[in-house]
Amino acid sequence: METLLDKYIETAEEVETIKYVGHVIKVQGILIESLGPSAVIGEVCRIEVPRGKGVIQAEVVGLSNGIVQLMAYEDIEGIEIGNRVVASGAALGVAVSNKLLGRVLDAMGRPSDGKGEIDSPLQYPAIASPPPPLSRRRIKERIATGVRAIDGMLAAGRGQRLGIFAGSGVGKSTLLGMIARNTNADVNVVALIGERGREVNDFIENDLGPEGLARSVIIVTPSNSPPLARLRGAYTATAVAEYFRDQGLDVMLLFDSVTRFARAQREIGLAIGEPPATRGYTPSMFDSMPKLLERSGTSDRGSITGFYTILVDGDDMDEPVADTVRGILDGHIILSRDLAQRYHYPAIDVLTSISRLAPAVSGPVTNKAVGYIRRLMADYAAAEDLINVGAYRTGSNPAIDQAIAKREAIENFLVQNVDEKSTMSETLKTLAAIADMQIPDEELSRYRA
Ligand SMILES: Nc1ncnc2c1ncn2[C@@H]1O[C@H](COP(=O)(O)OP(=O)(O)OP(=O)(O)O)[C@@H](O)[C@H]1O
Ligand SMILES: [Mg+2]
Repeated sequence: METLLDKYIETAEEVETIKYVGHVIKVQGILIESLGPSAVIGEVCRIEVPRGKGVIQAEVVGLSNGIVQLMAYEDIEGIEIGNRVVASGAALGVAVSNKLLGRVLDAMGRPSDGKGEIDSPLQYPAIASPPPPLSRRRIKERIATGVRAIDGMLAAGRGQRLGIFAGSGVGKSTLLGMIARNTNADVNVVALIGERGREVNDFIENDLGPEGLARSVIIVTPSNSPPLARLRGAYTATAVAEYFRDQGLDVMLLFDSVTRFARAQREIGLAIGEPPATRGYTPSMFDSMPKLLERSGTSDRGSITGFYTILVDGDDMDEPVADTVRGILDGHIILSRDLAQRYHYPAIDVLTSISRLAPAVSGPVTNKAVGYIRRLMADYAAAEDLINVGAYRTGSNPAIDQAIAKREAIENFLVQNVDEKSTMSETLKTLAAIADMQIPDEELSRYRA
């Protein structure tokens, strides 16, 4: 009796195995095709490459004419026709725990800093839905970035999502580093997506430093990694941020860069035969952007404040990625090449930048002071050409006179050294002094540290 049953079990096991194992039949560019296994889109599969590194992790990206299309999270060196493809039965999950703090992870959430494994029984799905809209707390509190131009002129709320738009080399990464070191958020999650490998070490060692690293988790998928890794690195980072948000914490998600994420999506879209739309971007880019960006923000437990960098070529804000992102986020910070060239750092162009929630998270006197300073700056900008050529005569326009008188104080307020931290109360006191106002204590005490 027993032997009879055994035989059936054995047969059943074999059938399962056959079902969940396939074989590579074609490799073209970044796309791998296999006959079998039975798997769903998004499922993680293991490709066994005895003549390569042993195992390559890949994901099902398409199912077409009985063929499974896969893309790898890592280099596909050594892959051959006939290699076994084994379905895992699960989509990409990230092992999460508090032990992630201070660690550097790859696209799949595996440690890549050589500091040992992180074993955690708890897995978060890399691809997840945003919290339901009605469960999201309203954003009422400020978060400090330690950067005067932001905390003073472009106040951000806990759970707000802002874009940092700039051309190349204008100071996006440096600014993110300053925020990571100085913010009063509980935890930083830093996503370095598609950055040059050399810059990653620079960022960790110089921009972040040891004390910044200790309260950060870094997810790195450098520019030379396959597009799927760059794409999933973004999701993995977001999942890690979600884990800390679920602990009731205020998380700072620093994401560099959304443009490289979008380009990875474009590479994948084109490889699986999607039609290119605007500037070669395929429909999946426009589809994936809100899915990524809506996951940050508040939930019913904690918050993820997001700063996302966007590369704008030739300062073209209507470029498809910039345009799409701007419509989703709650504000944009624009870095100006002119300011950077004048060594005005951080090169934030206050007048063209906007934080949509600033009025909601600031008190009335603070708002008034900010409005007044913005007007002084606008008046100065309008008259700047005249002033520079000496064509403006003092006394001819009181508003411009005032703008000129306050000019230096405003510049000193906005310019800040990379290693200089400004607390929220220092920032607001200076802001108020420039505007000849006094922010009442009860208003100041609303803004933690
Ligand atoms: N706050 C700052 N103070 C002084 N110099 C700065 C500052 N920010 C940026 N720089 C200068 O600008 C250079 C480029 O900065 P950064 O790498 O942050 O720019 P980026 O916008 O991230 O560039 P990329 O587009 O290449 O990623 C730095 O190497 C530095 O020389
Ligand atoms: Mg950079």
